[in-house]
Amino acid sequence: MTERRLSESGFPIEPVYGPADGEQPGEFPFTRGVYSTMYTKRPWTMRQYAGFGTAAESNARYQQLLAAGTMGLSVAFDLPTQMGFDSDEPIAHGEVGKVGVAIDSIEDMRILFRDIPMDKVSTSMTINAPGSVLLLLYQLVAEEKGLSAAELNGTIQNDILKEYIARGTYIFPPKPSLRLVADTFAYCRAEIPKWNTISISGYHMAEAGATPVQEIAFTLANGIEYVRAAIKAGLAVDDFAPRLSFFFVARTTLLEEIAKFRAARRIWASVMRDEFGAKDPKSWMLRFHTQTAGVQLTAQQPEVNLIRVAAQAIGAIMGGTQSLHTNSFDEAIALPTEKAARLALRTQQVLAYETDLTATVDPFAGSYAIEAMTDTIEQESRDLMQRVFAHGSSVEAIEAGFQKREIETSAYRNALQVDSGERVVVGVNRFTINVEEPYEPLRVDPTIEQAQRERLVHLRATRDQAAVDKSLGELEKAAGTGNTNVLYPMREALSAKATVGEVCHTLRRVWGTYKPRETF
Ligand code: 3HC
Repeated sequence: MTERRLSESGFPIEPVYGPADGEQPGEFPFTRGVYSTMYTKRPWTMRQYAGFGTAAESNARYQQLLAAGTMGLSVAFDLPTQMGFDSDEPIAHGEVGKVGVAIDSIEDMRILFRDIPMDKVSTSMTINAPGSVLLLLYQLVAEEKGLSAAELNGTIQNDILKEYIARGTYIFPPKPSLRLVADTFAYCRAEIPKWNTISISGYHMAEAGATPVQEIAFTLANGIEYVRAAIKAGLAVDDFAPRLSFFFVARTTLLEEIAKFRAARRIWASVMRDEFGAKDPKSWMLRFHTQTAGVQLTAQQPEVNLIRVAAQAIGAIMGGTQSLHTNSFDEAIALPTEKAARLALRTQQVLAYETDLTATVDPFAGSYAIEAMTDTIEQESRDLMQRVFAHGSSVEAIEAGFQKREIETSAYRNALQVDSGERVVVGVNRFTINVEEPYEPLRVDPTIEQAQRERLVHLRATRDQAAVDKSLGELEKAAGTGNTNVLYPMREALSAKATVGEVCHTLRRVWGTYKPRETF
């Protein structure tokens, strides 16, 4: 029995309120949360998304965040890495180290995690098309430190479908991409069993304009697509489903967000148990990470964003998130400064350790408003999922441009409301000030691209090229067959110091690249 916390007035706060014969937290369909004790036992993971420049700069930021009390790491990669190109390729020019850290090889991954206890910290990596490549580099570096892969905790985003819909960092066409996802599920089941193999994301669709119902419906429809692909690849549902995870946004409209999260858990639980026949309760649990809504931050009066982020964070916490990133108040201007990043983390620490939000589980349960909104969002999300599947599958709907069109329509309506002032944005279309105070943003050192290129020249000149060629040849052969898990030859190539770009180019040669159909 969880310890009852005393209120400020001295009476005990019950860890769970509600009728004994009602739905309990930690029970199917998990409307009230995936764990019976939720934050009364352990707060959500404070996991701040960070990364820029070279591996050395990002390692320094991670050390700062760990020193400031962050509980989990979350790696942001630069676009060349996310797209499977090396820093010295022409297409990478100007993007190296810009929106995240540049990782070209095992040498960079070693630096990124230098002096970081990889057995004690869980690490999320926001990487999709080459997600398996970065996961293997992480495993190889951990093993060099004497750790077993079985001890590693973390997540790769690995959600290629939302990349076709909203974010754009895709490489291969859907079919080989889903094969690679299924191979990654199987590999992690065998080699890295505590790793969360995918973070099925609604965040980016929400940031592109999706409503809460669209966010849930399109994300869960993508989730169903991954489950189908894994089962089709021969995996048993309970062998991979417990390690699926999700990623949603937290908007400033926090009441609807709380209802959104509760509805999402309820839908996923019934889909997994009743449609896919999953027997393991862990397969029914929708565990998720939340990031506060970046698109709702303003460059005008940037300190006002501190209040927006706090409100969004409360919505995520009351909605039962497992892991949370709070945006820095200056992110609408540039990469966050160290102080802004620390303030973002302090926001979570105040909510976790100074408020009583962690004293009782799902406090909005039984609320007329929240329960009604939960039911409405559940029904409308299920209806929209049926419209997705009317195309045959989520992939076919994507190829028909369905989700993209629906989101663009919502985004357009939202923009009109802001322009007309119907939708208030404090400091932008109401409560403005004439002269914005100057703000000195963080600037990424422009010379890092050259430094990164020189490191690649050195790596290629000093590695065993024959070993690299041989292992890439093995990878090419495996990719060409339908029944060989490509992660094993991929790991050999990366261990021999093949670069991220070389591995991805090998797969491009076999699988081709995705070219979206222009649909109007
Ligand atoms: N009772 C019992 N057990 C509990 C508990 C409780 N109350 N609370 C936690 N636990 C246990 C859990 O069971 C778990 O143990 P297990 O691993 O053995 O099952 C352990 O404690 C850790 O708890 P969680 O798994 O709930 O928390 P994590 O933080 O480890 O994992 C996650 C959370 C959502 C499952 C995971 O997938 C995750 O961390 N995701 C993060 C994704 C992320 O950071 N994405 C960033 C994207 S940035 C981006 O894309 C935006 C950019 O493009 C702009």
